[in-house]
Amino acid sequence: MASAVSAGAMANLSLYSTGSCSSLVSSSSGRPLKITLQQKRRVYLRSAKNQVERRLSVVCSVGAKERTVPELNEGIANFYNESSGIWEEVWGEHMHHGYYDPNSKDAGDHKEAQIRMIEESLAWAGIPEDEENKPRTVVDVGCGIGGSARYLARKYNANVKAITLSPIQAQRGTAITADQGLSKSVNFQVADALKQPFSDGEFDLVWSMESGEHMPDKRKFVQELARVAAPDGRILIVTWCHRDLKPAELSLSPEELELLDKICDAYYLPAWCSPSDYVRIAESIGLKDVKSADWSEYVTPFWPAVMVSALSLKGLFGLAKAGWTTIKGALAMGLMVQGYQRGLIKFALITARKAS
Ligand SMILES: C[S@@+](CC[C@H](N)C(=O)[O-])C[C@H]1O[C@@H](n2cnc3c(N)ncnc32)[C@H](O)[C@@H]1O
Repeated sequence: MASAVSAGAMANLSLYSTGSCSSLVSSSSGRPLKITLQQKRRVYLRSAKNQVERRLSVVCSVGAKERTVPELNEGIANFYNESSGIWEEVWGEHMHHGYYDPNSKDAGDHKEAQIRMIEESLAWAGIPEDEENKPRTVVDVGCGIGGSARYLARKYNANVKAITLSPIQAQRGTAITADQGLSKSVNFQVADALKQPFSDGEFDLVWSMESGEHMPDKRKFVQELARVAAPDGRILIVTWCHRDLKPAELSLSPEELELLDKICDAYYLPAWCSPSDYVRIAESIGLKDVKSADWSEYVTPFWPAVMVSALSLKGLFGLAKAGWTTIKGALAMGLMVQGYQRGLIKFALITARKAS
């Protein structure tokens, strides 16, 4: 087991990070470091690139349970292999939050709220809808079983390529797409978002709906999204973040870190970062028109609704059938509610345009 990250060991670390979002890799071995919970602490490193001392806090490192990146990706694949069937049975083809009216007492239909999330996100990002400028090529990065991919293909009459780490999701996505007569325009692959099997500049719209939280290297993630975007192409990331740090703060509080660690463990998440971290990364790699938004207030009814559905007869039966990883995910749902209530978890949107 790796020992605590000492000051001496710091010399051998490359850091892919800004702000409080980080991922550590040993520059001597090139292997991802395993970092224990006890090592969760502020670290001061001199960036090899720009020699600027940055303040960092390691949040969850590559997972609360000492996961290396390959272990993390295997965990993500298994988690979705196991849980996607029950999710589809109860919630349908979209595996993401719904968008709700914060002024209405009645949350309404949850599947409609999930579609609203797609529509509101596209509108917020200003994705053109007119015949001349609408996206013709789309990549859905972290596609689940392809709910967004098919929706975007229909909406824009676009060609969509979709990637996921889960072979079961890719298979199921392909089958549903065939049933819906969309096989010519939507294609699924098992591939890593950090090493996408696409050439530079392929896509008018680069779409990532609730997959960014799984990415162990947020800078590499945004760089890959930017690489595959066409000149003038649009990037839209909808993702879970932790709150921005206040000016005087050096890191989240120990209690906040502890809560995030538990969530990381249950949902196979690596280091969290803040919306501002994403904005800084996007600007630092030359993306244009970068903006972010906090939509936490629009998603409030979502997790309570997921909890209710998990406790239904169908939900309980499905959980028992799916297995321990899925049950652990279900048990962690209350932690998400707590995280939002404390203002620690933010439902964030980040959009940008690649220079023309
Ligand atoms: C919560 S699901 C969201 C699915 C879909 N975007 C939706 O809204 O229905 C997260 C997805 O991200 C994918 N994912 C996580 N890490 C990934 C990675 N490194 N490369 C590709 N996909 C990844 C998972 O396989 C899963 O399909």
